[in-house]
Amino acid sequence: MCGIVGYIGLPEKTAEHDALAVLMEGLRRLEYRGYDSAGVATLSEGAVQSRKKSGKLVNLEEEIAQQPMRSASIGIGHTRWATHGGPTDQNAHPHLGDEGRLAVIHNGIIENFAELKERLLRDGHSFDSETDTEVAAKLLGTMLPEAGGDLTEAMRLASNELEGAFTLLAVHSDHPDQVVASRRNSPLVVGLGEGENFLGSDVSGFIDFTREAVELEQDQVVTITAADVRIIGFDGTPAQGRRFRVDWDAAAAEKGGFDTFMEKEIHEQPKAVEDTLLGRTDAQGRLVLDELRISPAELNEVSKIIVLACGTAAYAGTVAKYAIEHWCRIPVEVELAHEFRYRDPIIDDTTLIVSISQSGETMDTLMAVRYAKEQGARTLSICNTNGSTIPRESDAVLYLHAGPEIAVASTKAFLAMIAASYLLGLYLAQLRGMKFQGEIEDILADLHKIPAKIQEILDASDQIKDLARQMKDEPSVLFLGRHVGYPVAMEGALKLKELAYIHAEGFAAGELKHGPIALIEEGQPVFVVVPSPRGRDSLHSKVVSNIQEVRARGARTISVAESDDEAVSSYSESVFRVPETQPLLMPLLTTVPLQIFACALASEKGYDVDQPRNLAKSVTVE
Ligand code: M6R
Repeated sequence: MCGIVGYIGLPEKTAEHDALAVLMEGLRRLEYRGYDSAGVATLSEGAVQSRKKSGKLVNLEEEIAQQPMRSASIGIGHTRWATHGGPTDQNAHPHLGDEGRLAVIHNGIIENFAELKERLLRDGHSFDSETDTEVAAKLLGTMLPEAGGDLTEAMRLASNELEGAFTLLAVHSDHPDQVVASRRNSPLVVGLGEGENFLGSDVSGFIDFTREAVELEQDQVVTITAADVRIIGFDGTPAQGRRFRVDWDAAAAEKGGFDTFMEKEIHEQPKAVEDTLLGRTDAQGRLVLDELRISPAELNEVSKIIVLACGTAAYAGTVAKYAIEHWCRIPVEVELAHEFRYRDPIIDDTTLIVSISQSGETMDTLMAVRYAKEQGARTLSICNTNGSTIPRESDAVLYLHAGPEIAVASTKAFLAMIAASYLLGLYLAQLRGMKFQGEIEDILADLHKIPAKIQEILDASDQIKDLARQMKDEPSVLFLGRHVGYPVAMEGALKLKELAYIHAEGFAAGELKHGPIALIEEGQPVFVVVPSPRGRDSLHSKVVSNIQEVRARGARTISVAESDDEAVSSYSESVFRVPETQPLLMPLLTTVPLQIFACALASEKGYDVDQPRNLAKSVTVE
């Protein structure tokens, strides 16, 4: 999703920090958000200079090399993920207003852009692009006379006319001493430097230059100069942001010896799970989730949980359902956030909404959480990104502490989401007296053994990579699972679709005979996530039967099974082994071979696994 950077420094700092170099570095750090065009604008010699280009940053760099920009101490930069209008040079940001003296970049979607555009067209404005952003740029230009030429006031007036989600950044050639920004429902953070200040969609946009930052609230306008940061609400009242220090290491956002962020993040999973579990028990071994911010009394009153999430996070939610219902006997529904609020769901003040999101900015999830809050539900966010919108707007939060996830396809956050869901389930069980303390401690002890077991799978991944190489030309791959293996099968299929652009489907193995088995023909690869032979009655033998059913119709079966599960060997062409654990905890292990497989196969095909086509890391539009 769009990445935004803004910079202003004292003119004498230009030799050290030229605006263009600062902006390009920020945009590189924000590449992980996913984008299909990029652009910059700086102010120099009383004029806006702007360059923009479709495609990756290298295209923009070439454009700048062909048409060099003068040195500058102020500017804005943007990576665009197309919404209104295709990913063309013309639709790339910045867009200009006020007869070329104003440059604007934007993240989000302006919902009333069509009526605003009509009004502006009637007033004689013309447009060079199909974007809603250009409408905002022109609108901002028209507000300047009313605002007495004050760019901050013009931004405030324009923002009040806009509906939808937006972060807007603007520079104007008559105001070479300030960058003005505004935000509603889209992320924006201020970075504080010495004789210079920064703006970013997130802290990665300026992490190379400062670690001191200020978080903005909804509906605020911020004006940065080289020496100052001023914030006002959309109603004009002065406001204070919340200051914080960024504790992410810049190196944590780099590849650390791996070819891709995705491989690095797959290998970080032992640590991600360990960090999620860290510090969550007291000296007596009791779970303490201090950050939850919902009182035990309120949690005791919960009569139903609804998990809201999208994509990979929703599959983590399905694992959460199995665990929480089993341990706590509270009914749990899992719903895709974008479906939830349009179907008149039944919610009251004893409903606990658990949203799961890596980014904390997924618009579908955010809107569903807001809707549930309006209906009186309590809201709890399981999230990886500190200070992001969903946890900020929720009554309670359980942070994952998995570290920044840069690759667009989620891996370590998925395992951390599952681990956090287990913690939540066990905490509720402890609170409501649904399990003896000893039972909870046993499960926690097994959870703490998981990181070392993930490491074992990672250390033995050559077999998986070899198979991926052999299967690179397969047109379609199916995944089967039961119980907690079902969401793992769905996740395995999603990873293969996202990364390798191969048709892949995940099914509940029991559903096979109700239709999907018709897909099986000679040589069809089928991955089977096999439950523990020590798990629920007959579940394992049911899955072994499913393997036999597809093999009888010509399928080539690849099982993911526990190390001591001999029963599957004779029915599988290949078996990826995972160490033993409690049946409910198996997704933390069985997912890993499927991630490695998808990543290796996509790399074998020569695809960019960090930024798969058409995808954005943080989906901030509905
Ligand atoms: O940031 P979130 O966890 O809210 O993102 C939700 C989905 O957009 C995300 O999981 C998506 O499905 C990824 N591409 C999965 O790899």
